[in-house]
Amino acid sequence: VIIDPSKLDPRSSYKLLIGAVVPRPIAWTSTVSRKGTRNLAPFSFFTVASRQPPTFCISVGPPPETEGGERATKDTLSNIEVTGEFVINIVSLSLSNTMHESSKNHPPEADEFRKAGLTPAPCQVIRAPRVGEAGVSMECLLDRILDLGSDHLVIGRMVRFHVKDELYEDGRIDVAGLDPLGRLAGNYTKVETIFDLPTEDL
Ligand SMILES: Cc1cc2nc3c(=O)[nH]c(=O)nc-3n(C[C@H](O)[C@H](O)[C@H](O)COP(=O)(O)O)c2cc1C
Repeated sequence: VIIDPSKLDPRSSYKLLIGAVVPRPIAWTSTVSRKGTRNLAPFSFFTVASRQPPTFCISVGPPPETEGGERATKDTLSNIEVTGEFVINIVSLSLSNTMHESSKNHPPEADEFRKAGLTPAPCQVIRAPRVGEAGVSMECLLDRILDLGSDHLVIGRMVRFHVKDELYEDGRIDVAGLDPLGRLAGNYTKVETIFDLPTEDL
């Protein structure tokens, strides 16, 4: 089949997008509000945007409709707009349920670290906490936000890596030990088989 996305309703187009771009890494994103309330939410529309300086992007979609009417933006986006900071934590398989819990639509005043029973660990450069249980966390300063159609592309320059000692060896991260969770369409995958492709003999 060949499909013109402009002929699809947004929901159908989204379903094809999330089935085609798989597996996706998950940016488990911690922020604080203007008042200092801690927030945490996963974003799988996430990648490295530049290697030097190390830069990431996440795409934040419109907020879900809430009972008290529609919120203007997701808490993550409004916190980043106000503070100019965020942390990307990597989700290991053992943290899957906690991560999923943090994707639920909590009110802005809810402390999502406390709700999830996670340890808010201090960052070095920014005020938002990182997830103490995460194997890798990366502190980011906002570079810019691009309005792209229905979504906002948040671009952040990474200023600190936090890597658990047991996952760090010779300047590399032990990916098998990190055991990262991947997002498929609506479901998940784990990294089970890691292999090299043969390199050409030159
Ligand atoms: C694994 C996973 C990946 C998600 N990826 C995205 C994403 O890329 N963009 C987005 O806007 N929402 C995404 N969501 C939904 C948000 O996490 C959800 O709307 C969350 O409540 C936002 O929280 P906040 O209002 O505290 O920012 C994802 C949810 C899950 C479970």
